[in-house]
Amino acid sequence: MSPFDRIIGYQSIRKELERTADALKNTEKYSRLGASAPRGLLLWGEPGVGKTLMAFSLIEASGRKHFICRKNQPDGDFINDIRKVFEQAMKDAPSIVFLDDLDKFANNDEEHKDSEEYVTVQSCIDAAKDFDVFVLATANSIDELPDSLIRAGRFDRCVRVTAPTGQDAVEIIRHYLSSKTFVSDIDPEVVAGIMAGYSCAELETAVNKAGLLAGYEGCERINERHLILGCLDIAHRISPDSILTEKTAEKRGGLVKQIAYHEAGHAVVCEALFPGTVSAVCIYESRGEVSGLTAHREIDSHDLHSQLLEAIIPFGGRASTRLVFGYGDIGSVKDLECAKTILNSHITQNGALGFNLLDTFFENSQELMHLQEQAISAKMEACAQEAERLIAANRELLTAIANELIRKGLLVAEDIRSLKQAVCQ
Ligand SMILES: Nc1ncnc2c1ncn2[C@@H]1O[C@H](COP(=O)(O)OP(=O)(O)OP(=O)(O)O)[C@@H](O)[C@H]1O
Ligand SMILES: [Mg+2]
Repeated sequence: MSPFDRIIGYQSIRKELERTADALKNTEKYSRLGASAPRGLLLWGEPGVGKTLMAFSLIEASGRKHFICRKNQPDGDFINDIRKVFEQAMKDAPSIVFLDDLDKFANNDEEHKDSEEYVTVQSCIDAAKDFDVFVLATANSIDELPDSLIRAGRFDRCVRVTAPTGQDAVEIIRHYLSSKTFVSDIDPEVVAGIMAGYSCAELETAVNKAGLLAGYEGCERINERHLILGCLDIAHRISPDSILTEKTAEKRGGLVKQIAYHEAGHAVVCEALFPGTVSAVCIYESRGEVSGLTAHREIDSHDLHSQLLEAIIPFGGRASTRLVFGYGDIGSVKDLECAKTILNSHITQNGALGFNLLDTFFENSQELMHLQEQAISAKMEACAQEAERLIAANRELLTAIANELIRKGLLVAEDIRSLKQAVCQ
């Protein structure tokens, strides 16, 4: 097993780390070609995306002695520590100095970038120049670091690490599921949509939460519902205890019914356009307010047609309450914003309605903006109408989902599948 096997996904970063490790391990192979070993690498990005994990994989694969430097001392002592770490690394070269969380080395005041800590790191890097010392660092933000410190020659490469998306997120969830006792047929794609944009650490925590919930309920195995609850908790701060119960449903009758139909509307439109993609529908109570949420798998909207279809889903809630109660509910502002964002990219970046509406090709004039706004609002009307048509055509499923939602508070993909089957019979 290679040390890099601990990094799930992130193929292109992994390749780069493998190449760097090879250059650090087999220096002769490269020096015969006249190439000198790389001098430094900075991995930067949001918390929990795997920078430290990647750094340790590189260290292990390089086979070099390493010396870690993290800020865990008062300022004066810490500056001495930095110097000592570099001195030791030079003595034991070839070696690696690992500066973990480099942007936390200095206090967060106005002098931050000019602080003694960064000046010391920079002078130590320069002093180690003639030794075979590789400097590896991680940071959350490179804006916090002095430009002179991260320039080429000190750090040859600054690699941005972002939260996992698409297949990477699915693979990471699958990896964490594999170490737990789950019911066998859980599909990681079901939750990848809910966790889109969240870090590896958050994916790991969500899967673990599922285990804690199952344990508390005395279950032998973790099921899809536990996993969805774990994800909703981490990604949307919807705690399992806030999910609607029959008691609350009775107390808040009319409002709960309206929200149930609103969410059922999103679910019905989503299933009509992209069958099998709804992963969770729920109603929950937070600080005395009752709200709802519908989550679906990540939709592959790389073509213009599916991007347009995706913009119809947010209108499902409004279309449903219009049909059932005779009015569009007022909780739809977020839905409208979501549809507008999709259509904005559809029209002004992807050129779905012609090149003349593209942002990039023409000067951003008032006239262009006006034309774009008109085109977006016309498409929004068309999407709203299509949502109404789909809701009317699937009224039976709408009622079934809404009623079951009021009864259970949370429906997962499996529940939606069963309801669809029951309606079709
Ligand atoms: N690609 C990955 N595959 C599997 N697990 C990962 C991956 N990346 C990170 N993790 C896990 O996520 C958790 C956080 O990772 P890590 O500490 O490396 O993040 P970080 O980017 O260094 O965060 P911070 O900025 O807070 O220091 C760890 O438990 C790690 O094992
Ligand atoms: Mg870290």
